[in-house]
Amino acid sequence: MKHILLSMTLALGLLMGSTQVLASEGGAELPSAGVNLRDQASLQRGARLFFNYCVGCHSLQYQRYSRIAEDLGLTEKEVMENLNFTGAKFGEPVISHMPEDQAKQWFGKAPPDLSLEVRAKTADWVYGYLNSFYVDPSRPVGWNNTVFPNASMPFPLWELQGVQTAVKKPGSEEVEKLELSQPGRMTPEQYKQASRDLTNFLAYVAEPAALQRHAYGIWVILFLALFTLLAYALKKEYWKDVH
Ligand code: HEC
Repeated sequence: MKHILLSMTLALGLLMGSTQVLASEGGAELPSAGVNLRDQASLQRGARLFFNYCVGCHSLQYQRYSRIAEDLGLTEKEVMENLNFTGAKFGEPVISHMPEDQAKQWFGKAPPDLSLEVRAKTADWVYGYLNSFYVDPSRPVGWNNTVFPNASMPFPLWELQGVQTAVKKPGSEEVEKLELSQPGRMTPEQYKQASRDLTNFLAYVAEPAALQRHAYGIWVILFLALFTLLAYALKKEYWKDVH
């Protein structure tokens, strides 16, 4: 019995260990995004934010509307009425209508596809980015960002978060901290939650299979436990005449 317990603890330990490694890959100074792919309500809120505020410029070229419905527990009707504003068909991928050359002209840069953004930059980076916009009249789009300095993205969530202003270090151009100089429709706590939901949704989009992998994990543990029991019973059987 001791053996069984030991190997089960080991298997669990391995599983926990692997998620730990993933969680600690973010930048050192970034706040934690607290991604939780099992929080379906958060993923749904994040999807709503993405389709209301981001799809005007950014695509998710590897993500189909039908897959979002399936993974986020939404019906076809809910997705087509509440999330799909581009006129795409249910089985089609999420493609923004923003023409690339137009965007380059307006922002100086084309908005990149965000399908793999969380894998490229980490969830903490995206969450930090969404919390670090401040007004900067010296920038062409009027906004700057402490996580991504001189980003040419106009901050689309300012109505929700409000307007942040940079406090510079005395005698320098370096930003010391950001201050909310004009409140938005959300309280700071509500905005943190909203940007966390949005990051959560983008983390799911970057790896839709992760949702299923969490479900497999339980079965793997059960299988290991069962297998250990069997092996133990077998061992007992083989050795019973030896002693
Ligand atoms: C008006 C157009 C526009 C909207 C709306 C918009 N973005 Fe962007 N976004 C851009 C542009 C342009 C860039 C490229 C900035 C650069 O490279 O300087 C960008 C860059 C980004 C990046 C960084 C990509 C990188 O380089 O790694 C992230 C993350 C991002 N956007 C997230 C979002 C999210 C989330 C939303 C919705 C809340 C959103 N964006 C809405 C135009 C937009």
